[in-house]
Amino acid sequence: MPRMMTLDLNLPQVLIAYHSHGGNTRKMAEALAQAVSDTGCEAILETVGESAMEKLPSVDGLLLGSPCYFGSMATPVKQFLDDSIKFFGKGMLVGKAAGVFCSTGNIGGGGETTLISMTLGLMIHGMVIQGIKSGGHFGPLAIGEPDERVLAECRDYGEQFSGLVKTLFADLY
Ligand SMILES: Cc1cc2nc3c(=O)[nH]c(=O)nc-3n(C[C@H](O)[C@H](O)[C@H](O)COP(=O)(O)O)c2cc1C
Repeated sequence: MPRMMTLDLNLPQVLIAYHSHGGNTRKMAEALAQAVSDTGCEAILETVGESAMEKLPSVDGLLLGSPCYFGSMATPVKQFLDDSIKFFGKGMLVGKAAGVFCSTGNIGGGGETTLISMTLGLMIHGMVIQGIKSGGHFGPLAIGEPDERVLAECRDYGEQFSGLVKTLFADLY
């Protein structure tokens, strides 16, 4: 079920949009949302789909999450990106912050390629991608159910991402 935290229009907004069949990616999304909302941004937590798509042009940042399916993002996440073509021509996502996260089954099972596959569409939109200096360089990555180390990484990344959003949109809030 999509969930939304209380909205405060005086704060920058971050959409955390994800697909999760078994709950692993969802747990990462929840940890990211908590960190984002603890550090001065509004977190909007949604599964990928129409409701998340409607919010995309108005939010300041997007964190996009997917399980690794055959070394790439799951179909609903690819569909979400493909459907975002409607914002492309008008450059509606240019300059917004973006980041990615992933849950995979195995070490070397394609988690990093999944993360990178998601960044491609976001970069083509002109979004500003937040990497990670330590840990999973391309975004938080869990092998199976996220353990305490991965959840801590999600919290750190969520905080770092909030910082990027607040910097990019400092003149608006
Ligand atoms: C269709 C399908 C393809 C998958 N492909 C891979 C894969 O290529 N490599 C891998 O390590 N795990 C693969 N997995 C395992 C999932 O990435 C893993 O179980 C993940 O934690 C599921 O996330 P979720 O609980 O959010 O749905 C696949 C699972 C499914 C259902």
